Amino acid sequence: MQKGRMIYEGKAKRVYECERDDAYIVEFKDDATAFNGQKKGSIAKKGQYNNAISAIFFDWVQKEGIVTHYLDTLSEREMLVKKVRIIPVEVVTRNVVAGTLAKRVGLAEGVELAQTVVEFYLKDDELGDPLINRSHAVALGIATREELDHLEETALKINRILRNHLNDKGLLLVDFKLEFGVTQEGEIVLADEISPDTCRFWDAQTKEKLDKDRFRRDLGRVEEAYQEILQRIQQE
Ligand code: TMP
Ligand code: ASP
Repeated sequence: MQKGRMIYEGKAKRVYECERDDAYIVEFKDDATAFNGQKKGSIAKKGQYNNAISAIFFDWVQKEGIVTHYLDTLSEREMLVKKVRIIPVEVVTRNVVAGTLAKRVGLAEGVELAQTVVEFYLKDDELGDPLINRSHAVALGIATREELDHLEETALKINRILRNHLNDKGLLLVDFKLEFGVTQEGEIVLADEISPDTCRFWDAQTKEKLDKDRFRRDLGRVEEAYQEILQRIQQE
């Protein structure tokens, strides 16, 4: 399918119109940024890895009844997705303390949480995507209480699905970020991507980081980590 006009360019993806009225083509780039764009770089073949990895994760969750924007894989870097209006909230789910949660609550990275945590962040680059609570989200008109319940329940269900599959591959799902969108029919569906850019994966035994933290923290072997995730999840 031919790409039409580019309608959006983000830090890691470009979105194009196509011949279908109800769909977009997403192209995954190798560009990588961190700390709200303050750190910039590129990870060789990241676009290909994230396209393939996201397709597998969307397939896993779709098989368990989660509705997503994913329609088809078109090429090494291109995915066909349902047209949606992205809800401007990032939904972060955490099983183990890491990243900003470690800083915010003063716990060490790697501490297992007694209960899975779901957080909402306002999707706004100029503000640096601040953490918000449910009453902020309602007051700002981002979503109703019922919609927030649905996002939280869906994130927890996706967590259970991904954790089980990844556990079988010797991987610990530390945390991950989801975005949701509203289709032309008004249905809320899982959108964006699920990849080492948007998740933390640690080797279950060694606790080695196999995600974008290798880029954020200059740990080296960044491309290899993305490749390793793809290889492990491709195994039957
Ligand atoms: P954090 O610990 O930096 O808040 O990140 C939590 C999770 O969200 C982690 O898996 C990485 C992901 N994430 C994104 O996908 N995009 C972002 O802009 C940020 C800050 C985090
Ligand atoms: N994607 C975000 C950024 O560019 C942050 C991150 O993933 O760390 O800055």
